[in-house]
Amino acid sequence: ADVFTYDPGFTSTASCESKITFIDGDKGVLLHRGYPIDELAEKSSFLEVCYLLLHGELPKAPEFAEFEKNIVYHTMVHEQFDRFFQGFRRDAHPMAIMVGAVGALSAFYHDSTNIDDPAQRMIATHRMIAKMPTIAARAFKYSRGQPFVYPRNDLSYAENFLRMCFSVPAEDWTPNPVLTRAMDRIFILHADHEQNASTSTVRLAGSSGANPFACIAAGIASLWGPKHGGANEEALNMLKEIGTVENIPDFVKGVKNRERLLMGFGHRVYKNYDPRAKVMQKTCHEVLEAVGHSNDPLLKVAMELEKIALSDEFFIERKLYPNVDFYSGITLRALGFPPEMFTVLFALARTVGWIAQWKEMIEDPSQKIGRPRQIYTGAPLRSYVALDKR
Ligand code: CMC
Repeated sequence: ADVFTYDPGFTSTASCESKITFIDGDKGVLLHRGYPIDELAEKSSFLEVCYLLLHGELPKAPEFAEFEKNIVYHTMVHEQFDRFFQGFRRDAHPMAIMVGAVGALSAFYHDSTNIDDPAQRMIATHRMIAKMPTIAARAFKYSRGQPFVYPRNDLSYAENFLRMCFSVPAEDWTPNPVLTRAMDRIFILHADHEQNASTSTVRLAGSSGANPFACIAAGIASLWGPKHGGANEEALNMLKEIGTVENIPDFVKGVKNRERLLMGFGHRVYKNYDPRAKVMQKTCHEVLEAVGHSNDPLLKVAMELEKIALSDEFFIERKLYPNVDFYSGITLRALGFPPEMFTVLFALARTVGWIAQWKEMIEDPSQKIGRPRQIYTGAPLRSYVALDKR
């Protein structure tokens, strides 16, 4: 019989070759197409990072203008799509809506499902990046019982998204440049992260030739779990549950007794620190200051928890450090989002990574359908026994 290497959780199996993102987990390095994440977060914009991930180089001015034009051309969704939304319960988790709504895009944009045509692959890519903010904002508005807000193409990507979430017909909405910049930076920090669970899901789904909308819906489903993108929602709930600094020692004791995980801590690849978490922590302070919440008690709990965890043997031995999700919850809450929207924002930003990885795979001549093997541990060959004889 064939013998296969057993590698649960794929801790030592490379599933593909990729030129998009490089991570050195021991050194805490994350590069997109060679550029460090902290430099991109500081100096670039989310749309520019999208171009970089998709095309391999930073755009020249005319290339960027053309790219922006292509994105804003596709920001609207079909009117019938809004009626499709009405089928969801108002109290549905917005991630449940995202899985369904994004999957349904293939029912609305048939032309983009022709993956053999490079031009259609590019249009599908632009459509996904352009429509995700519109769909995510609708998921938010729907849960609030507020009217959907149409996109405005004269605004930046982040500003347009915040406006679609927070403006209401009854009053003017004025953007706060610090918050808009923070939103854009949060999108940059989540744009891609090589072969994590959701990206691998997108590649595996796509390897069969499935259309990109269906593949991204599969990625959203995988992202939803609390060990992956769902950790930002769980991390904030955990900080709320701890409540005050005095309760931290008891909580940490519970973690060390294996009663629960410290959400927003630990990473499969980063065994030194998560470079995204550093930028996120800085952004968190900026946002809290801008909205006048510098004394947010949850920030105090987070900082104290981090300090204790980083000096405790249990966490040091296991190389557990804060990841990108540790400070993102407090930041997103200060931006005005409820916890159930946090993973939706992650999905919105990660869409470019998913689609860049999908495109790279489709265009790779060595690509094969993904088909892991298994180690069979079930019953040996036996004969069927009729029901009345069992
Ligand atoms: N709290 C307490 N103990 C932990 C944690 C944690 N957050 N993470 C790992 N450990 C322990 C784990 O119990 C194990 O201990 P031992 O060796 O004694 O059995 C050891 O550390 C190694 O952990 P592992 O589970 O083998 O590590 P993994 O690479 O399979 O898991 C992880 C990585 C991110 C799933 C895990 O650290 C985790 O569940 N963290 C909490 C959820 C979280 O914050 N996820 C977001 C990740 S970053 C953004 C994203 O990917 O979406």
